[in-house]
Amino acid sequence: MPYVITQACVDVKDKSCMEECPADCIYEGDRMLYIQPDECVECGRCEPVCPQISIFHHEDLPEEAKKFERINAEFFTLQIGTGPLGSPGGARKVGRVGDDHPEVGA
Ligand code: F3S
Ligand code: F3S
Repeated sequence: MPYVITQACVDVKDKSCMEECPADCIYEGDRMLYIQPDECVECGRCEPVCPQISIFHHEDLPEEAKKFERINAEFFTLQIGTGPLGSPGGARKVGRVGDDHPEVGA
């Protein structure tokens, strides 16, 4: 799992990361955004543009944010919205998914 979005994105959704991502692999949930781990090319461009400091390389995740590695991945494998989303190959064409990982939506 390359880069991961964490708690600080929730209810902020600045979206600078989406604009910066050359792989278009940052998907919009209801309350936060999620990085598709199989589509991320690990370029690191999203990390410095987030004003919330909410994006980390998976190896640099603070202890309290480690569960977000699983949460980002599960957003694409669990039954979420009309999902599972899987690997759609581009966030822009998918648009806003009006739902979140259950641990974020709660
Ligand atoms: Fe969220 Fe930061 Fe992106 S607040 S939408 S991770 S720029
Ligand atoms: Fe995208 Fe690069 Fe981040 S591929 S998710 S901007 S590490």
